[in-house]
Amino acid sequence: MTQKKRIVVGVSGGIAAYKSAMLVSQLVQSGHLVSVVMTTASTQFIGPATFCALTGSQPVVDPFDPRYPLGPHIELASDCKLMIIAPATARIISACALGLANDLLSTLYLNMECPVVLAPAMSSPMWEKPAVQRNISQLKADGVHLVGPDSGWLSCRRIGVGRMSQPEAILQACKPWLE
Ligand SMILES: Cc1cc2nc3c(=O)[nH]c(=O)nc-3n(C[C@H](O)[C@H](O)[C@H](O)COP(=O)(O)O)c2cc1C
Repeated sequence: MTQKKRIVVGVSGGIAAYKSAMLVSQLVQSGHLVSVVMTTASTQFIGPATFCALTGSQPVVDPFDPRYPLGPHIELASDCKLMIIAPATARIISACALGLANDLLSTLYLNMECPVVLAPAMSSPMWEKPAVQRNISQLKADGVHLVGPDSGWLSCRRIGVGRMSQPEAILQACKPWLE
């Protein structure tokens, strides 16, 4: 019997990480097998216990997690049909664009052979910075699918571009790979 393929949701460290819980919950409710990979910074914004309860398995934070003898960057990629990084911080965007592989999430990204969808989230000055826009252009050229960011109220108490798209919009963008 062939094993059901998983969706990996990568969560990086921004305020919008709380919206990822809704995204993960909706994926699980739709019958998908979901594994959550959290950056260390993201655990400041949302607790691993939330994703543990939503998915039924402990999210992976440690690149040397002993549950994965070959390394989670290998094992989580091998049976993955879709990777979603939401929120995608300026830092993870940079690491993926440069192929840095200096943490679990960016190393896992390099191992992925499936489609990758990023939902950027950051302040508008960060989003508009040429360095960030260069990285976004690079990721698009690399075949990564971008959702958002949207315009609106930002946690830095400004209105501008940088809000992470709502979970429903991210799911809609992922639809071609969720069948
Ligand atoms: C309160 C707070 C909110 C933050 N929100 C964001 C954000 O929305 N987007 C972003 O790119 N960085 C944000 N940062 C900065 C990141 O947390 C920081 O760059 C961190 O190193 C990102 O690490 P990661 O990409 O490994 O998760 C925020 C920092 C703080 C303290």
